[in-house]
Amino acid sequence: MIKINKKIDLNKVPAHVAFIMDGNGRWANKRGLHRHFGHRIGYTRVLMAVKRCADIGIKVVSVYAFSTENWNRPKEEVDEIFRIIRENMHKDLDEFQMNGIKVVASGDITKFPKDLYEKLTEIIEKTKNNTRCTLNLCINYGGRDDIVYAANRLNGKKVTEAEFGKLLYNSDLPDLDLVVRTSGEQRVSNFMLWQMAYAEFLFIKPHWPGISEKLVDKCIVDFQKRKRRFGKV
Ligand code: FPP
Repeated sequence: MIKINKKIDLNKVPAHVAFIMDGNGRWANKRGLHRHFGHRIGYTRVLMAVKRCADIGIKVVSVYAFSTENWNRPKEEVDEIFRIIRENMHKDLDEFQMNGIKVVASGDITKFPKDLYEKLTEIIEKTKNNTRCTLNLCINYGGRDDIVYAANRLNGKKVTEAEFGKLLYNSDLPDLDLVVRTSGEQRVSNFMLWQMAYAEFLFIKPHWPGISEKLVDKCIVDFQKRKRRFGKV
């Protein structure tokens, strides 16, 4: 039996929740471990978080897995992040299937090493008919890049906001309701700038590898206490 925090109103869950997964390096350093180890544990937390969100009834979960700026990290760290995805994502395919999780990617994944790109596209293809929850991997993703990608597809045409939104990466996903950033930093860091127009924000202290089911639940409880006005009174 799955035990969900009783304070969560299951009839009012956010449609789209995002996690800015910050603090893998600090989590590891605090324990005298190499920061790469923080990424390894951080990776495992993604599956936990999406499964928990699916159990709560959240239909879309976005995670900021690799930003357009992350290429500027030391090559060995970039290689390690790719290695983690390469070694583990395929193993997680069964979990995605069993839990009805559809995987999609936002960002130009063609820029990744060929085998990684092929692995990701295979997972996307194999999970495409799952309907319980969508995991949107923001990978080689930047909010500005997303907007420029859409603008470049306009071909000079005049459009409305709604029409413009349809040109973004994964435009069929709803706007963000809640953005959770771990590690206590209060920054947006070029994440889903268009989609977060009316999102609520939670900046929580634990580093990403320290996220738990209990904490995910608490985020939803806190979100449900917010009064959203969407610019109205
Ligand atoms: C931030 O910690 C985290 C990242 C840059 C993301 C790391 C990527 C993963 C865990 C892989 C997830 C991938 C998929 C496909 C699910 P940080 O390094 O900025 O930590 P710090 O601020 O403490 O240095």
